[in-house]
Amino acid sequence: MADRLLTLEIFRYNPLTPNIPPRMQAYQLRETPGMSLFIALNQLREEQDPSLMFDFVCRAAVCGSCAMLINGRPNLACKTLTQDLPDKITLMPLPVFRLVGDLSVDTGVWFRDLSLRTESWIHTDKTFEAQGLEERMDNPTALSIYEAERCIECGCCIAACATANMRADFMGAAFLNRIARFLIDPRDERPAAQVFEVVGTDEGVFGCIGLMACDDLCPMEIPLQGQLAFVRRKMALAGLWGK
Ligand code: FES
Repeated sequence: MADRLLTLEIFRYNPLTPNIPPRMQAYQLRETPGMSLFIALNQLREEQDPSLMFDFVCRAAVCGSCAMLINGRPNLACKTLTQDLPDKITLMPLPVFRLVGDLSVDTGVWFRDLSLRTESWIHTDKTFEAQGLEERMDNPTALSIYEAERCIECGCCIAACATANMRADFMGAAFLNRIARFLIDPRDERPAAQVFEVVGTDEGVFGCIGLMACDDLCPMEIPLQGQLAFVRRKMALAGLWGK
């Protein structure tokens, strides 16, 4: 396998030069042992085409910036080994997000907008005391928050989501997961009704049509459909018993 000649078909388009239409460009590259797509793309940029645009920061599945469509499926390029792919590899930018160029998209604006829309921060009247004692919480609660916090905001779940591809205002799994995180957190004193006002809509929990691609393709394996079900369950309980 180590001496395979790989063909990478890469989407090329720079919105700053709209006179050059979008196209697929093929590159060939000799595979090396343990090669990730991060290594392959950097090698291509260094040795064959310095104009190739793509994003990387951490190279360790932490920052979420290298997400792209790899043979049609959203995934992290730094976490994907070429040995797990066929000889021909197609790379496209994530849909839904604004294209910066080639494989690079701007997920930051999208996530920031949603953060503001859903007010993704702890709402409390308590005054922060920098020297105060850390607030304790029980382990199961802390672990549930941690589970939701593992999201690296790579955008794979949004790119994989049929609803998000059809309607720009859909919050998507990443944000419903974020909502779940704040519903779990006892430090957030927001009345649940205030949260449900924002997410109990077609743009929120009712927009999901249950195709489960978010859950199947999350590179961090966060149980996103479970988080969505949790938000729906909390909403139903709030409706029935005001909890
Ligand atoms: S480079 Fe950070 S997640 Fe891939």
